[in-house]
Amino acid sequence: MTADLHPIDVDLNDGTTIPQLGYGVWRVPDDEAQPAVEEALRVGYRLIDTAAIYGNERGVGRAIAASGIAREDIYLTTKLWNADQGYDTTLRAHEASLKRLAVDTIDLYLIHWAAPPLGKYVDTWKALVHLHEQGAVGSIGVSNFHAPHLQEIIDATGVTPVLNQVECHPYLQIEQLRAWNAAHQIATQAWSPLGAGKGMLEDPVLTEIAERRDATPAQVVLAWHIAQGNVVIPKSVTPSRIAENWAALAVQLEPEDIDAIEGLERGERTGGNPDTADYAGPTPE
Ligand SMILES: NC(=O)c1ccc[n+]([C@@H]2O[C@H](COP(=O)([O-])OP(=O)(O)OC[C@H]3O[C@@H](n4cnc5c(N)ncnc54)[C@H](OP(=O)(O)O)[C@@H]3O)[C@@H](O)[C@H]2O)c1
Repeated sequence: MTADLHPIDVDLNDGTTIPQLGYGVWRVPDDEAQPAVEEALRVGYRLIDTAAIYGNERGVGRAIAASGIAREDIYLTTKLWNADQGYDTTLRAHEASLKRLAVDTIDLYLIHWAAPPLGKYVDTWKALVHLHEQGAVGSIGVSNFHAPHLQEIIDATGVTPVLNQVECHPYLQIEQLRAWNAAHQIATQAWSPLGAGKGMLEDPVLTEIAERRDATPAQVVLAWHIAQGNVVIPKSVTPSRIAENWAALAVQLEPEDIDAIEGLERGERTGGNPDTADYAGPTPE
């Protein structure tokens, strides 16, 4: 059943596209990343989201190589870690990610956090612009940037990120930032789209909609993201959930469901605030 489902391709501002539903691998150890990503690819996912700090780029690369799927049919995202921010360090970190992933090109390279206290995101963005101009990366974007950070890098380079990957789910709907992104042709990609396994899926509003629509709460939440126009990258290492999340593509919500989910907003973050977060720690080898 799931083999017949296809997410739409979302247009990006550099003329490329990205699948609207993908698969994320935060907190998946390197040796578990290969079977997990292989399973996701088998189910139908073609967008894989990793990061240097996840320490699993090698496992992701092994899964891509073992999948038998042509490299150009898989959309691969990785992210530059905070410790590597800065112009020259970014160029070196990009090379290191390519080596670990064992690929020639990354489809989407993101600055993982603006990390304003470091004061380096403008130089870091200039390095990503350089990589893109050289044809070394497919597309460039950011993660965990708020509007003032985005405006600053756009003003400094004239180049607008294709995408901003930020925390977003029914308890943190970031309506203003999504509107700002959209007004600037920046796609919004939702991280922790299911609320990171912290109980949101048991919310009675979500379980009630799920029952009415013959779906699961996770599927309802993913269908809501898709209806909002978000690009979305749920993570699961559980094969049944990997398939369940993909099957959300077949779930149809009605306007009253969307209204009810809108009412769940409570400004509740599961992760850091992009204005202040400057997570330290070295990039894994
Ligand atoms: N840019 C950033 O700073 C940033 C930050 C966080 C995340 N991300 C990206 O976004 C991806 C997704 O975010 P996330 O991993 O934090 O959280 P998430 O996708 O919202 O939730 C993952 C959790 O939900 C569980 N789960 C998955 N599908 C489920 C289902 N159908 N029913 C019930 N539970 C389900 C998973 O359990 P099992 O795995 O045990 O099945 C896991 O505990 C990450 O993997 C990463 O790629 C980026």
